[in-house]
This record gives sequence, structure tokens and C-alpha cells, in this order.
Amino acid sequence: MEFHKIARSGQIPEGVVRRFFAGEVEVAVSRSDGEVHAMSNYCTHLDCLLSSGRVTDEGLLCSCHGSVFDYDSGEPLHPPATRPITVFPVKEEDGHVYVGISEELAEAAMRRRASGSRRLSPPSATS
Ligand code: FES
Repeated sequence: MEFHKIARSGQIPEGVVRRFFAGEVEVAVSRSDGEVHAMSNYCTHLDCLLSSGRVTDEGLLCSCHGSVFDYDSGEPLHPPATRPITVFPVKEEDGHVYVGISEELAEAAMRRRASGSRRLSPPSATS
């Protein structure tokens, strides 16, 4: 597991979600109750960007159709999403935020994005 320095702590104030890159992985980083959370930036429902969503007391809300994902487990707490989002470990040290990426977590995040993208593809002209 490699921890990537992604931002200064002040760039992620309470109640805010922003997009960052940890290596090649796009992450939605938010702060709720003082704690920083990082998850894949692509909603498991239809790939909307969670960095465009909203921090709630329960979890991170996807602004497209209202799914809410638990900050710690990534489980969907409200439909329509049914699959969990990939959650990444976070460290906050010396005024900076670090997100941990392993090969396995990076692959999981990319796989979900790819499968969501296929669902969004328009039907081919021959089908
Ligand atoms: S794309 Fe996130 S709830 Fe539909």
C-alpha cells in the first residue's frame, strides 16, 4: 500500500467534497465530523462524479439520483445504487492528507468505472 500526498488539510474543509488524484486513481475526498474520507470518484449506479455530490451526516450523496455511500464501508445506504463504492484509507499528518492506494484497490476502482461506462454506451446501430 502506497500513501500519496494529495492535498493540504485546509483544501478539504468540513462539509466539502473535492476531486483529487492519488497516483492515477481519481478520488472523491470529503470531510465529515472532522474526519477525512476518500472513495472512488465514480458512483456505482451510473458513474456520476461523487466530487459533485454533497457531504451528509450519513455518507456521501451522489447528486445525480440520490444514492448515499457510507464513508467507512462504501456500502450504499440509499438506492438506486446497489453496489458498494471503493473506499481508500486516509492519513492526515503534518497538515497534509494522504490517500492509500494498493494495486487491488486501484483495480477495483477502475473496474467499477469501466462497467458503469459500458452501461452508458448508446446501443449500436445494428442491434
Ligand atoms: S449515478 Fe449516482 S445515484 Fe445515479
